[in-house]
Amino acid sequence: MCYSHKKENIILRVHGNTGGLKASFAKELQNLYNRSVPRDRFIHAVLARKITELSREIKRQIGLMIDRNGKISHVIVGDAHQLFIPDLTRHRAGSGRFRGLRLIHTQLRGDLLTQDDFTDLTLLRLDSIVVIQAQMNGLPGKAEFAYLNPKAKPDSRTPWISTQIASVYDWNDNFIDFIRDLEDQFSKKDSTRKVKKGFGAILIGVHTGQAKRARSSMEELKRLTSTAGLFGMDQFLQSRKKPDPKFVIGKGKLQEVLIRAMQLDCEILIFDQELSPSQLRNISVETELKVVDRTQLILDIFAQRAQTREGKLQVEIAQLRYRKPRLKLMPTAMSRLTGGIGGRGPGETKLEINRRRADERLNRLEKQLKKLSQGRQLRRSRRKKFGIPQVSLVGYTNAGKSTLLNKMTNASVDAEDKLFATLDPTSRRLRFPREREVVLTDTVGFIRNLPKELMQAFRSTFEETLESDLILHVVDASDPEIDFHITEVEKTLKTLKADNIPHLMVLNKIDNTEPTKWPELKATYPCLLCSALSGEGLGELMVAIEQQLFQIKQAQ
Ligand code: GTP
Repeated sequence: MCYSHKKENIILRVHGNTGGLKASFAKELQNLYNRSVPRDRFIHAVLARKITELSREIKRQIGLMIDRNGKISHVIVGDAHQLFIPDLTRHRAGSGRFRGLRLIHTQLRGDLLTQDDFTDLTLLRLDSIVVIQAQMNGLPGKAEFAYLNPKAKPDSRTPWISTQIASVYDWNDNFIDFIRDLEDQFSKKDSTRKVKKGFGAILIGVHTGQAKRARSSMEELKRLTSTAGLFGMDQFLQSRKKPDPKFVIGKGKLQEVLIRAMQLDCEILIFDQELSPSQLRNISVETELKVVDRTQLILDIFAQRAQTREGKLQVEIAQLRYRKPRLKLMPTAMSRLTGGIGGRGPGETKLEINRRRADERLNRLEKQLKKLSQGRQLRRSRRKKFGIPQVSLVGYTNAGKSTLLNKMTNASVDAEDKLFATLDPTSRRLRFPREREVVLTDTVGFIRNLPKELMQAFRSTFEETLESDLILHVVDASDPEIDFHITEVEKTLKTLKADNIPHLMVLNKIDNTEPTKWPELKATYPCLLCSALSGEGLGELMVAIEQQLFQIKQAQ
């Protein structure tokens, strides 16, 4: 059975548990859409009585969503105990804190306000919730109402206030004054916040046993977040047997995160793992927040950082590849939520506009990239022809590759304490005594779970590494995760089939380590020690490079 009613050309449907209702009740429920509440009242007593009576007769809860003009936007039928609120995406909460809707519903037995009400109030950002007791005789009994507490502490588990109302007949509070005052208090609170709205994010991770690794991955996510220009406001790391197939973390935890997001006025959730298209959709629909995963965050950083035409093309290709399957699954109203963190990518607008023609665009971009890569290949083969050896610097992000390149060649490549400062490969000549020279190339830093879309798109950049005569594997000796970083880089080199190229491991940043540790480092890793910052060990490094390369050359 479907009961619908045409009002202002919009079909208004009675939502929820309407099955098995007598036609006369169904009609009465439908007719509720013809009623309204005076703008300055929470509820009109006559309307309250109508719904309590009807509620008793059908033995189900009845709910009304009421907008700021007093119009009824949703009539909802529940069962004897609860009520399910329909999708309110059409009534998306604007930039303000509240959705502009309040819920009034009946209660047939037990407590008036329940935990479900508080959760809905918080998560849906309702103006308020009013629960009215439907007495056995059908008349409205006691009532209770709740609203979000502007003075709630950020870590409060109960960020709301509830008040008992003896009788709806004597309830004369002015709704307009109430909501204005509440919004004022919230906006005053917001203006004292240091973090600019829209730039804070909550970081979320899940692990299935390796707590230590997960914590360091979260630390890395925090750095990625700040590299992307966002601020990590809080983080949640959940331990589970396996990630929840629908939401990654449990639904209860997700609600906790949402309440926190609400308190912090945070609009972005960043997940430490890659979300499947359906997980991204489920979480976005459930929370109505911008949902970003590690992959998208890395892609966004790359998008912000790409300088050359080739780099920009590569990033846009990777972004398109990543988003294509995800956009398909997003409801149209949500598609804006998938557009990266800040709309800063080079292809951002194009991605939005052309999403239906993503394949076509991908094709075109790939052709352009191919042409550019051919140019790079040409330059490379010219170098080869002149017999100039090629040395590539690879390493985990932030290991100090650019700084080392600068120091060794006196060039000035961006070296920043940010992840992925280097995106576009930079080549510099490095001269040795005896008129020998090599070309030294700095490449994009590696990181755990480097998105496969990026690996594919940056194929031509990585090809440079593949064709080098020597790889300098630069490692941050002062990082507690040194072993993990080495393994990750070696894994990536293997994936790129570059593991058979001769390589030298360079433990950088030794100025950050105790000199007493150096012999142990040397014994543990077959490596050279240096500090790109102080210059220590660079002489030995140059000698080692020269020996490796020119011995190799002589042997050929
Ligand atoms: P990506 O671009 O992310 O791949 O980074 P990268 O490996 O090119 O690192 P980069 O050269 O940008 O250096 C990262 C940070 O480490 C910067 O803040 C550097 O100043 C710092 N750094 C680099 N070398 C050294 C060193 O030898 N000692 C110390 N203390 N800091 C260093």
